[in-house]
Amino acid sequence: MSFFEITGRRRLSGRLAVQGAKNSVLPILAACILSPGECVIRNCPDLSDVTATLQILRGLGCKVRREADAVIVDASGVNGGEIPEHLMREMRSSVIFLGAILARLGQAQISYPGGCELGPRPIDLHLDALRRLGAQIWEEDGVLHCRTPGGLRGCRIHLPFPSVGATENTMLAACGSQQTTTIVGAAREPEIEDLQNFLNALGARVTGAGSDVITVQGSTRIGAAEHTVMADRIVAATYLSAVGAAGGELELTGVCPEHLSTVLDVMEEAGCVLHTEKDLICLRSNGRLNGVRPVRTAPYPGFPTDAQAVVMAALASGQGETVFEENIFRSRYRHVSELARMGADIRLTGRTAVVRGAPLRSAHVCSTDLRGGAALVIAALAAEGTSRVGELHHIDRGYDHLELKLSGLDAAIERKHA
Ligand code: EPZ
Repeated sequence: MSFFEITGRRRLSGRLAVQGAKNSVLPILAACILSPGECVIRNCPDLSDVTATLQILRGLGCKVRREADAVIVDASGVNGGEIPEHLMREMRSSVIFLGAILARLGQAQISYPGGCELGPRPIDLHLDALRRLGAQIWEEDGVLHCRTPGGLRGCRIHLPFPSVGATENTMLAACGSQQTTTIVGAAREPEIEDLQNFLNALGARVTGAGSDVITVQGSTRIGAAEHTVMADRIVAATYLSAVGAAGGELELTGVCPEHLSTVLDVMEEAGCVLHTEKDLICLRSNGRLNGVRPVRTAPYPGFPTDAQAVVMAALASGQGETVFEENIFRSRYRHVSELARMGADIRLTGRTAVVRGAPLRSAHVCSTDLRGGAALVIAALAAEGTSRVGELHHIDRGYDHLELKLSGLDAAIERKHA
């Protein structure tokens, strides 16, 4: 089993280009299925979730190859609508393929995506929307069978919750209809705008992404396209939290400050000095962050749930008190017990976590999920002594060579194998 060995309380400094966004590249790779030709997706991060997605594409009959930071997907030979169970289990978000496969082939078969470390991950909003578009979907022995005997027909769909995945799935399926589909109550995350841009480059006619009403007009001109994936705003928040916690200065390039403005507001209130330009964020920290006003996670443009754990770790190593409220997922505090092993003072009551800053000490801890694992790395960078962070497969799902990037900022971090 591999682990990170981290020696804390070293000032970090340097300049870092932010990797491509995991939560943008996954639906964009799924969207390649709509194309009869070869698509080139640039700024594609090297992540295990991307590797799993490429395996799913190959299993559907696509030819896929990597060239430096680009992935080339030739979907001309898509011949099957089945995603094997082991790949569905490996990556919950593979449900995002459903809409694209139905749009391309009219039939699909996927196993129910397993729950995961964040609690139950229902897909009722996805299935309701696809049924509204004309899909017949039934479950047999944990396998979802989907058919569109009358094709996909455009309609008006109201999402009771701005689910990111359900919005993306509906956009992809709607590209398979010749009529117009309107999604009301759509999620507004920047990754959805990135998906819209790629779909329009393919020849689709999608408007409204970034607002809560998205319109997909029927199009008969879906072709091939090239696209550069936007920067990962959550990875950016992670590095900012790391330098905020350890102390030092950081220049992040390639990322849009607007996409994580709520995180920047918290870091500034905690005592960091920030400077931003179009695609640049500079942060300076004395390594002793203050408590801030309550941090309540919410759909975009609210505070991102994916940044909750990493910002919590940074504030837990500081001074002063902060109340967190996790309003998106039911159990997204599994990192708290591991942080407590490092001396963090965090009291949980339902969706609320009260964090009281304290000096952290080194410990051997285990990642519980993707962002929880990153939070433990941040805590170790702020802690006195040498820590170990295990279960790195969680972290490798969403961070492209995290230890190399942090070493580039002068962190003492090494990937070791027990
Ligand atoms: C996406 O997940 C992201 N993943 C998540 O990032 C992110 O935390 C989440 O959006 C919220 O921003 C990808 O984009 C691959 P949702 P998704 O549908 O689409 C409930 C990370 O760390 N819900 O917006 O699964 C659901 O249970 C990951 O990078 C239903 O009830 O999120 C949750 O409580 C973690 N029924 C809430 O909505 C449904 O059909 C938000 O889920 C769908 C969702």
